[in-house]
Amino acid sequence: MGLMAASRILIVDDEESVRHQLSSLLALKGYEVETAADAEQALEVYRGGDFDLVVCDVRMPGMGGMEFLESVGGPGSEAAVIMMSAYGDIDMAREAVRRGASDYLNKPYKNDEVLLRICIAEQRQALRRENLRLKRAMREESDFENIVGRSAPMEAVFRTVEKIADFKSTVLISGESGTGKELLARAIHQRSPRRDEAFVAINCGAIPENLLESELFGHARGAFTDAVRNKQGLFEEADRGTLFLDEIGELPLGLQVKLLRVLQEEEIRRVGENRSRAVDVRILAATIRDLAAEARAGRFREDLFYRLNVLTVRIPPLRERPEDIPLLVEHFLVRCNAKLKTAVRGVEPGAMKLLVDYEWPGNVRELENLIERAVILCDGEQITPELLTDKVRQAPPPTLSQLAAGQLSIKKTVRAIEEELIRRALAETGGNRTRAARLLEISHRTLLYKLKDYGVDADSFSRD
Ligand SMILES: Nc1ncnc2c1ncn2[C@@H]1O[C@H](COP(=O)(O)OP(=O)(O)OP(=O)(O)O)[C@@H](O)[C@H]1O
Ligand SMILES: [Mg+2]
Repeated sequence: MGLMAASRILIVDDEESVRHQLSSLLALKGYEVETAADAEQALEVYRGGDFDLVVCDVRMPGMGGMEFLESVGGPGSEAAVIMMSAYGDIDMAREAVRRGASDYLNKPYKNDEVLLRICIAEQRQALRRENLRLKRAMREESDFENIVGRSAPMEAVFRTVEKIADFKSTVLISGESGTGKELLARAIHQRSPRRDEAFVAINCGAIPENLLESELFGHARGAFTDAVRNKQGLFEEADRGTLFLDEIGELPLGLQVKLLRVLQEEEIRRVGENRSRAVDVRILAATIRDLAAEARAGRFREDLFYRLNVLTVRIPPLRERPEDIPLLVEHFLVRCNAKLKTAVRGVEPGAMKLLVDYEWPGNVRELENLIERAVILCDGEQITPELLTDKVRQAPPPTLSQLAAGQLSIKKTVRAIEEELIRRALAETGGNRTRAARLLEISHRTLLYKLKDYGVDADSFSRD
């Protein structure tokens, strides 16, 4: 394999002549070779030494080749194993492959054949390693580190995810648009034992009803006019992994019945086929609707609702967790700078106050887009209030008088009251910070901190 380091190969055979012949052949071709005369010895050598490939005889006295294969050839194994047998029959070969062997060789073999098989195994091994590496990299990408939030409700969400990730039970994720439902679904998959298998997502609201069934379950060639070939559905694609059914509330009633049956029986039937295929899929579903209410109103099947609603996670809207906003802003700034090659350092206190006070009907997605826009428009190092959209700038901060107007967030109301009192004290003292602090019965330092936090400019209260 080109520039790669020579593969390390372990040869295991009880016959001295085979060990000798194979090792000199492979050494001649530049491989690093070690040998072992029985399985016990082979295990020892194998554990000591970072092998890429093992060529192993099936029948040996003591521990047999198959048993050896079980110990080294599992799914997580580093080396590819090629089994050899003089009594080679196809059942033995199939059994070896089933237990994790990558290939099978019949004795007597030709040298060219051995070299070819080894070459193929090496290539497969390289692909497998690449695949593992990519998966690992993706996992790091989509770990919790990328779901930002330190507010109590988000901490509760993370705790729930930790608890439920390991199980196969269905999870229903609810939350307004842009709250991070898909991000969370990916995080659940990444924390689950299925992390190395597929995560397949489908938006049930975005695909026309007549195509959705074949999309989910696949179809046989000729099942309908456009079905020119057999097609695997997403359930099969997600086999052993996770299927994310986004916008499940949009699933047409007819398909709800079929989905329920699949979930109960763990079998799918491709459209136009009459045989069933077993599938092992974990379902995560997301909705912006109140599915219980939809079920009561007859728009969503109650039985399916109960089947999906085994475990639930509700992601609170951003306005219920304003303390996450500065963290999210920082997170998106770092991302934007990396993506756009910009160097925006931060957000001016006044601008941050506007961001924290805004209602965010589009939740985190709206914040993300707004930060990107501001970073692009920004000439300096700081995002100023002028760079924010009119909607954000015009959002009136909640005031004392709004207490009666249905504002229920304690955090926001307390902040609003604090700010209002500070403004009154400054108005009273003509912007004199020391006297204002005394009136407020807080330290000078605390006042300075709060002025900055609320983006209040004391000098603007000065009377001269
Ligand atoms: N807590 C968070 N930390 C970091 N990024 C987040 C967070 N929540 C959401 N995002 C980002 O916001 C955007 C929207 O998230 P996502 O697509 O998961 O939301 P959604 O709930 O599926 O929205 P919709 O209902 O509109 O499909 C994504 O770019 C996502 O990365
Ligand atoms: Mg989504």
